[in-house]
Amino acid sequence: MTEGLGALAGRRIVVGVSGSIAAYKAVTLVRMLAERGAVVDVAMTAAAGRFVGRLTFESLTHRPVLDDVFELDADQQIAHIELAEAADAIVLAPATANLLGELASGLVGDAVTAIACASRAPVIVAPAMDAGMWTHPATQRNVATLREFGYLIVEPEVGELASGLTGIGRLAEPASIIEAVERLFARAGDLEGLHVVVSAGGTREPLDPVRFIGNRSSGKMGAALAEAARDRGAAVTLIAGSMSVSPPRGVTVVDATTAQAMREAVLRAAPNADILVMAAAVADFAPARASQHKIKRSGENLQIELVPNPDIVAEVGEMPDDVRPFIIGFAAESDDLEANAAAKLRDKGLDLIVGNVVGGPFDAIGSDENKVTVFAAEGAITDWPMLPKRQVAERLWDLIGDRYGQMRPQADATAPSGRRRRRQ
Ligand code: PMT
Repeated sequence: MTEGLGALAGRRIVVGVSGSIAAYKAVTLVRMLAERGAVVDVAMTAAAGRFVGRLTFESLTHRPVLDDVFELDADQQIAHIELAEAADAIVLAPATANLLGELASGLVGDAVTAIACASRAPVIVAPAMDAGMWTHPATQRNVATLREFGYLIVEPEVGELASGLTGIGRLAEPASIIEAVERLFARAGDLEGLHVVVSAGGTREPLDPVRFIGNRSSGKMGAALAEAARDRGAAVTLIAGSMSVSPPRGVTVVDATTAQAMREAVLRAAPNADILVMAAAVADFAPARASQHKIKRSGENLQIELVPNPDIVAEVGEMPDDVRPFIIGFAAESDDLEANAAAKLRDKGLDLIVGNVVGGPFDAIGSDENKVTVFAAEGAITDWPMLPKRQVAERLWDLIGDRYGQMRPQADATAPSGRRRRRQ
């Protein structure tokens, strides 16, 4: 039995197909899901029916296709509600720009949107459209909204489009979509019972009531980590510095916009946490004194004395073993990533450190993507490509989960959350 067959066998999967030329790839997707033992129901929009016929899907699944939101099933039940409730996962492929807009706005005018909206099952969305449509702010806003709903986006690929132009917007290959579905089932609940603390964003160190010393961290990396941990069943505390993205729903948010506030929040949360991930960009220095009044121009140079901030993660690294969580730091480096990350891993007493590059032609700060290398005591342990930050987060949790599981004493495995793992 292959791993894929194992993950999907017996799963109820609804594939929602909308009106794009890429609908022909949904045929392959449905066939592959069925081959892996999934019970597949297909729902189609009217526009999808212009590209591929329902008979094609019915022949592959041996089940009726739903293309009418008003249809009743053989038991006289509302068909789209029955499918929504039975689904273990919903895969929307291809998802057109229009479908994304409807889903983001809660408009449920057809069988596909009605199932997605009514269901509590995880939703995987594989968009397909023209490059201009994909990059349009409206589409990107809708995608961001769907991510906030907890939907998993399988990003479109770069390639030849229906228009004949080359660009981003091509539906991901069915194999990639299947992989996302398999990973979803493989992972679901793998952090269940754990309390995870993630810090995100930058700190702002006040100079006066209106000015601060800060950095460009958007909080995207930390938010993606918090969101992915939430989706895997962890209880998540997000310690939020200054962020340009909204924190994910369903996590406990503690605002901490200065290094001192972040220190207090982290030191309070860490002893009750199983895992701490410090993705925040904490300012290393703060003005020695913040003026109570707005500093006025005088025509003279202004001298500002900076004092070092406490090294928060290093303090957690020094906690006694019975309260110290498993600790993952980040190293943001403009050069010599490996040597600097190794030194920080050692000096701050971390279990793992995630190295990423800042300030060069590619800059991890603010970007939607990241290329990271994870270092452990034995050196670099990953060789990952550039990936969307959410996918980086998924890979990181796969890795952290493995490492955490290996070092957690077996005897503690059934202990209550927050006291499960303690190093020997
Ligand atoms: O927020 P984004 O725009 O998505 O960008 C993500 C990111 C690049 C900010 C993120 O991936 C990242 O690298 N975060 C850590 C940035 C950083 O502060 O790196 P550092 O090498 O200076 O610090 C090393 C570690 O010590 C970090 O885990 C940091 O949180 C921690 N630290 C640093 C200073 C300090 N006073 N206290 C700390 O705990």
